[in-house]
Amino acid sequence: MKKIVCANYEEMSAVAAYAVASQIRSKPNSVIGLATGSTPVGTYKKLVEMYKDGFVDFSKVTSFNLDEYYPIKHDNDQSYIYFMKDNLFNHVNISAAQINIPDGECSDPAKECADYDARLEKIGGTDLQILGIGNNGHIAFVEPAESLPLATSVVKLTEDTIEANSRFFKTADEVPREALSMGLKGIFSAKHILLLISGKGKAAIAKKLFDGTLSTSVPASLLNLHPNVTVIVTSDTQ
Ligand code: F6R
Repeated sequence: MKKIVCANYEEMSAVAAYAVASQIRSKPNSVIGLATGSTPVGTYKKLVEMYKDGFVDFSKVTSFNLDEYYPIKHDNDQSYIYFMKDNLFNHVNISAAQINIPDGECSDPAKECADYDARLEKIGGTDLQILGIGNNGHIAFVEPAESLPLATSVVKLTEDTIEANSRFFKTADEVPREALSMGLKGIFSAKHILLLISGKGKAAIAKKLFDGTLSTSVPASLLNLHPNVTVIVTSDTQ
């Protein structure tokens, strides 16, 4: 894995946004894998600026998000579809028909997950996948466990994740206990993965990525097996 160390969050966001924009400029119909959470907010902000400046055009882009809580209403301001509209989709010219995100309102989650993988496979995987990392080492909602899901599936969130994500909800009780999450196969379909890690709080988990071992108790450590991963970290993560 290549590592780029940035001075701060602003610089990390600019480097990541430039990588995404360059991908789209070199292949306008790129398939971009998107993450939610605090980490990529600055990246999306920069991408919106780049779009407004005419540097990047999303009209032919297809997007695949990593995950969505389940169940959750689309108009819940903590749903990931709401987050994506608020931070990116409503501000750029991406076509609604080309946005893919697991449906938190679906009635048949197993079918929703199977269809999601089928769509991703049909399009040939993602060209570029943005990832964040949980404090517990999860990527998407592939949580630490003895065995990890390959397919997109309904996953139970761990107590660590529920606690970490409760910062966005009024109380921890409101955090949905499950999610629909892309599995390792979908994540690894990416031709290039950009893993963004920011802040002191992620220093311990970032260190584990580079300790020369793999463990399903740190799902992100498996990224060491992917041929093209760029980890963009802030200097306080070191
Ligand atoms: C979000 C996702 C998660 C987050 C991770 C880090 O779509 O898949 O894996 O990337 O929980 O979240 P933040 O950036 O809020 O620390």
